[in-house]
Amino acid sequence: MNIAGIPHRTIEVVPGTHSVRIIDQTVLPHQLVWQTLRTLNDAAEAICTMRVRGAPLIGATAAYGLALGLLEDASDAALKAGYDTLFATRPTAVNLRWALDRVRAVVAPLPLNQRADRAWAEAAAICDEDARTNHAIGQHGFELLRQLHAAKADTSAPLHVMTHCNAGWLAAVDWGMSLSPVYLAHDAGIPVHVWVSETRPRGQGASLTAWELREHGVPHTLIADNASGHLMQRGMVDLCIVGADRVTAQGDVANKIGTYMKALAARAHQVPFFFAMPVSTIDWTILDGIRDIPIEQRSAREVTHIPGIAADGTRQEVLITREGTAARNDGFDVTPASFVTSLITEHGVFQADATDLARLKAML
Ligand code: MRU
Repeated sequence: MNIAGIPHRTIEVVPGTHSVRIIDQTVLPHQLVWQTLRTLNDAAEAICTMRVRGAPLIGATAAYGLALGLLEDASDAALKAGYDTLFATRPTAVNLRWALDRVRAVVAPLPLNQRADRAWAEAAAICDEDARTNHAIGQHGFELLRQLHAAKADTSAPLHVMTHCNAGWLAAVDWGMSLSPVYLAHDAGIPVHVWVSETRPRGQGASLTAWELREHGVPHTLIADNASGHLMQRGMVDLCIVGADRVTAQGDVANKIGTYMKALAARAHQVPFFFAMPVSTIDWTILDGIRDIPIEQRSAREVTHIPGIAADGTRQEVLITREGTAARNDGFDVTPASFVTSLITEHGVFQADATDLARLKAML
């Protein structure tokens, strides 16, 4: 996708080196800062601190992290330690495990002197595939958006899409998941307007989704998370489309905290509720998402404080509650399969149930 008209990916090899650069998402939208990752620990730090975030990008960064580690030490012990360090960075998005397993599987049988190059090539392949995959998700989702727009009483009116968090290209290597269909619809001339939920506590909607939609020229409006049900009740939302961090084999979906509440409101108001994600986000080893998906517990400080930019241009963080107020910060929630209209993947659109997902698995 483009930044100021120049094509970029969220993770890029620094030409002529064995290092990669990432966009530091903790300082967007106020600054665009590229940071170079030279070691496995750099990659782990970038994931832990959410300089990179979003399920597919976490996986891609971890893959390069393992490759960077093998450049320093390609022994079995280092491979295991590197895997464990990266795996421990964040618990909910299953793409992390998927990417690490994939790199480990191709390097483990090799002699030590071939491992780093092979890991580097596999990380690059993961990134290239992610870009292609997300474009395919966009094409399948585009067809849904086209049909929903054609079904509107007034087709000159915009198709109002509600999102949550950021599952756009900043959450992936390119294109994104929930926003990929939106970009294709916009580019095809369908009038699309996006309701961008701010996504407290970290504000990925306000800081990231609004930023990337503006870079692409897609009309959008920022809303407080609490406004979602109200807008649906008044017929101002044609569909919701969000990303996913882990989908179970029966179609339960973990996504950013607040997704479940939106799905409840959407069901009450007959608003279609789609999840868009690559097949690598499906955890085939579990069925019951509420029981079996680990929910990341994050710092209470993200709830009690809000960061931003002051009038003088300095970055500041302000306390919004009484000093010492207890706060809890679950990073994700689980939407049961029964609240999911359908799952948009690179292989097509599937029902969120064990039977249709088994059909998808058989296609792989
Ligand atoms: O905590 P984050 O920002 O890494 O959260 C992940 C997400 O970006 C969202 O949950 C998203 O909708 C799914 S990941 C593409």
